[in-house]
Amino acid sequence: MLDAATGEGRNLPPLLALGRPVTACDASAAALGKIPAPLRQRVALVESDLAELPLPSASFAFVLLSDVVETLPDPVAVLRELGRLLVPGGLLLLNIPDSDDGIAGIEMEPTAANGWLYRGRYYFRFYSRAEAEALIVEAGLALVESHVATWHEEPHPHFRPEAHTHRSLILTARRFGP
Ligand SMILES: C[S@@+](CC[C@H](N)C(=O)[O-])C[C@H]1O[C@@H](n2cnc3c(N)ncnc32)[C@H](O)[C@@H]1O
Repeated sequence: MLDAATGEGRNLPPLLALGRPVTACDASAAALGKIPAPLRQRVALVESDLAELPLPSASFAFVLLSDVVETLPDPVAVLRELGRLLVPGGLLLLNIPDSDDGIAGIEMEPTAANGWLYRGRYYFRFYSRAEAEALIVEAGLALVESHVATWHEEPHPHFRPEAHTHRSLILTARRFGP
């Protein structure tokens, strides 16, 4: 299994609990450095850009891409690369904040091509369900399932002073093959 853009490894415990070998990659050495030592010892770490991973084709049965697509200027290139890494029939699970989530615009300025710039430096783009499904197809993967998840959160101090509801798209895709 591959945790693609693992960040500080938040999702490694549930992946490791499945009992299969886990690889974790990220472009940020600083983020990888914050993965707690007991977790680091149990995974293979790769520092790399997602668009060109130094990993052999068809080597993962499952790839997780959590909270990443919305930050990518070219998500299709990354989805294609993750498709290359999947074995035929292998699964990719990803999430993206829905364009109706309500986060767009909070400390963000709109950019060209439907994007946003958060605090003047971090790129975000939010997708409708149809747009997110189209990314999967354009990347040459088979869409297995998509749905919208909603959950309620209490105020975040200094960011969102009111309790609010999030909407996130959850998509599962499969690499074509025998
Ligand atoms: C919001 S964090 C999500 C981390 C983790 N997946 C999670 O759910 O907690 C986004 C991560 O994507 C990484 N990232 C963004 N663009 C990347 C790229 N092109 N290649 C590799 N990593 C990237 C960032 O370094 C960051 O660690």
